[in-house]
Amino acid sequence: MKKSLPQNIWTILLTLAVLLSLAACENRGTPAPDISTLPSDQSQGKKTYGDLVVGFSQIGAESEWRTGNTRSIQQAAENLGIELIFDDAQQKPENQIKAIRTFIAQRVDVIGVSPLVETGWESVFQEAKDAGIPIILVDRRADVSEDLFTAHLGSDFVEEGRRAASVMVDLLDGKGNIVELAGTPDSAPANDRFKGFREVVAGYPEIQFLASESGDFTRAKGKEVMAGFLLAYGDQIDGLYSHNDDMAIGAIRAIEEYGLKPGQDIKIVSIDAIRDAFQAMIDGKLNATVECNPLLGMPFFDLALKVVNGESVPKWIPSQESVYFPDNAAIMLPSRQY
Ligand code: AHR
Repeated sequence: MKKSLPQNIWTILLTLAVLLSLAACENRGTPAPDISTLPSDQSQGKKTYGDLVVGFSQIGAESEWRTGNTRSIQQAAENLGIELIFDDAQQKPENQIKAIRTFIAQRVDVIGVSPLVETGWESVFQEAKDAGIPIILVDRRADVSEDLFTAHLGSDFVEEGRRAASVMVDLLDGKGNIVELAGTPDSAPANDRFKGFREVVAGYPEIQFLASESGDFTRAKGKEVMAGFLLAYGDQIDGLYSHNDDMAIGAIRAIEEYGLKPGQDIKIVSIDAIRDAFQAMIDGKLNATVECNPLLGMPFFDLALKVVNGESVPKWIPSQESVYFPDNAAIMLPSRQY
C-alpha cells in the first residue's frame, strides 16, 4: 500500500518550492556583471587592480608638467584601489637607483620609473629582472637593452622637437637667429628635442643658432640662462626655442626685464602645453606650445595589470599630442588638466 506523506511535509515542500522560484526571479532581475568591461577576468583567477602593489620612482618636481604627472599617477592609484609606493628622487639618479632597490626588496608586483637621465640603469634594471619584477618606463626612456624593461609609456620627444621647429620656421619666415633653452643634460627629452628640432631646421640655411644651454627644465634656471643670452646677443635674437614651458615662462620674465616684448620682438615656441603656457599665449607673450601629455596614471596602471596577468603589451605606447596656438588658447584653457 502506498504510504501518503504527512500534511506538514507537503506544506514544507510547497514553501521551499515557492522560495526557490522567488530566488530565481530575483536573479533574473539583477543582471550579471559584464566581465568584458572588468579590468581582468576574475573568473579565471587573474589579478585585478586591487591586488597590485606598485613602486614608482619619480624624478622630482622640477616643472608644472612633473607635478601634473605625479598627481595623475597618485590619483589613478587611489581611484583604482592600487597600493602605490611612491618615491620622489629630488633630481638625483642615485636616489632613483636606491628607490628601485627598495622596491625589489619589498617584492612589489611592478616598478614604474621615469629615469632622470638616459644612462646608468643597466645594473639596477638587471637586478629587477633577476628578481622577476617587471620595469615599466613612464615618460622618459632609458638607454638600456630592450630585455631589461617590459614597456615604455610616453611621448615621442623627437617628434615634439620637429613640431616646435616647423612652427618656428613659419614664425620666422625661414630666416633668423635662434637661442635654445635645453632640458636636463643627458635626459631623453633634452636629447630628442634637440635632435628633432635640428632635423627640420637643417632645411633652412638662413636660420642660425646663436646659443644653446641647459635651463634644467625649471623656471628659475630658464630666466637666468635667458638673461645671459640677452646680455651676449641682445636684439640679435629673433627666436627662442625652449624644451619646456616652465623655462619659457622664466625666459619671458628675463626678456621683459631686458626691455623687449616676448612673443613679438622675440618669437617663442616651447613644449608641454601647461596651463600657464595657455595664459602666456592669451597675454600675447608665447607664440605656440607643443603638447607633451603628463596624464599617464591610468594608462600606466592599465599596462601594469596586463603585464602582471601575462598579457602581451607593445614595447612602446606613444602618447597622442597636439600643438596649440594663441588663437584658441582662451577656449582651451578652462579644460586643461595640468
Ligand atoms: O620628461 C618630460 C619633461 O620633463 C617635460 O617636458 C618637462 O617639463 C619635464 O620636467
